[in-house]
Amino acid sequence: MESTDRALVTDLQRLVQRLNALPDTREPQTTPLGASIQEHLGVDPRALPVTREQVSPHRLVDTDIALAALAAADPDARLIGVSGGMERHHEDLQNLLAHRYTTFAPGPVEYVTTATGPSTTRQTVSFGIHLFRFDGSPVAVLVRNASQMFGRESVTLEIAATDEAVSTRLVARLHEVMNERSVIRGNVVSFTSDEFGNGIGALTFLARPEVGPGDVVLPDGVLDGIRGHVIGIGDHAERLLALGQHLKRGVLLYGPPGTGKTLTVEHLLTSTPGRTAILLQGGSLRFVAEAARLARAMAPAMLVFEDVDLVAMERGMFGGPQPLLFEILDALDGVGGDADIAFLLTTNRVDMLEPALAQRPGRVDLAVEIPLPDAAARRTLLALYARDTALTTAALDAAADRADRVTASFAKELVRRAALRAALAGHELGDADLATALDEMLDSAASITRALVGGGDGEDGSDSDGTTAMSFGSFGHQPGM
Ligand SMILES: Nc1ncnc2c1ncn2[C@@H]1O[C@H](COP(=O)(O)OP(=O)(O)OP(=O)(O)O)[C@@H](O)[C@H]1O
Ligand SMILES: [Mg+2]
Repeated sequence: MESTDRALVTDLQRLVQRLNALPDTREPQTTPLGASIQEHLGVDPRALPVTREQVSPHRLVDTDIALAALAAADPDARLIGVSGGMERHHEDLQNLLAHRYTTFAPGPVEYVTTATGPSTTRQTVSFGIHLFRFDGSPVAVLVRNASQMFGRESVTLEIAATDEAVSTRLVARLHEVMNERSVIRGNVVSFTSDEFGNGIGALTFLARPEVGPGDVVLPDGVLDGIRGHVIGIGDHAERLLALGQHLKRGVLLYGPPGTGKTLTVEHLLTSTPGRTAILLQGGSLRFVAEAARLARAMAPAMLVFEDVDLVAMERGMFGGPQPLLFEILDALDGVGGDADIAFLLTTNRVDMLEPALAQRPGRVDLAVEIPLPDAAARRTLLALYARDTALTTAALDAAADRADRVTASFAKELVRRAALRAALAGHELGDADLATALDEMLDSAASITRALVGGGDGEDGSDSDGTTAMSFGSFGHQPGM
């Protein structure tokens, strides 16, 4: 570079630095959008206080429904969008209404399709401004969906009103309506890890399962005991509260894989239509805090933690200070005893959980073993799963007696294998197919398959998973539950 060029460059750099250091004297100018809102509010929007409120992304639809309901009370309510390029996503409401450089104007409202149930959706406002009168005062409410792309973890609301007290009342009322009309209320939902593996996960609506009491084969009294605790307490909530009894309950179902823990949970979901249920499993267990918040807002509710052993000792959200299991147990504790919330935990490694439960007493007030089926239960199971077949009771009972120490899921699989054999061989399913299928499944050569379908370890008579016996209520009720 020539020395004259270098000098010029140095001068230019100095000039730019000085310019940058100068205060920007330009006043923000009311944008066309600001003018529209000024018309509605009757005052210069630059002088308006703006109240910000953040809402969980799971509640976008609820926010939309509640805002629409509040606006519907005003026949002149309007909903407008914002034009002005991608910048609109980066500017807050004040800057959209008055800006030094950019012109934002009323534009199309942006929508996103959101689930409102297992098979229903709603066109939900993801970026728009509601203009309506609330309690007689004009308000403008900008709602924006959470967005990974724009670094927004929550749904954000910005409320401009001539009086801040109106905004405060609006926010309080909005939350009431959101909870009253929530699309989550009465549904079965599960959290799933979102594609980014952080944040608070996505919410999925599930069809409520259909599992009748006759579909669950357990030792006498076991299912009734669980039902009484989970459903009975909810059914008699008012009476129990009047007697000074807490409603919150924690139930642990433990036992070997394939014995019906998940099936029991499904039966409880079937038996409580209209009760909100939130399911967490595997990776989504780390959303425990959000799930507990949701359960509180939706009470009466059921919060299910499936297979807690799988992540028991993993660190929780953002590698929190304590293992996830403790976070789960603390979430149970954080819910007031008056709340009609049933917590259900399932595990096939109760030995892993016991020390933690002993350290956090009072969270689980009923622990129920779901054991391997005994001979009588195996007969019932085989009869159940062969109910649509012509297999004879004698053959089924004989198979039940031979299939010692197998799981309930093994019984189901046995009938399926027998049916498949018959289908492949091109004849009607008969007792011989059942016997042959059982031979194959019990054959030690197929030991891996046996393990896969829940056929025990084929060694001694002890539980293959080393579960320890625990009786009803061994964690006894502690004050504060
Ligand atoms: N007690 C039972 N009565 C009737 N069917 C059962 C029973 N247990 C298991 N089954 C059958 O086996 C399937 C698998 O059982 P389930 O998922 O409930 O096992 P689990 O105890 O939750 O096992 P895991 O510990 O592996 O989660 C059920 O969907 C059902 O078809
Ligand atoms: Mg299960």
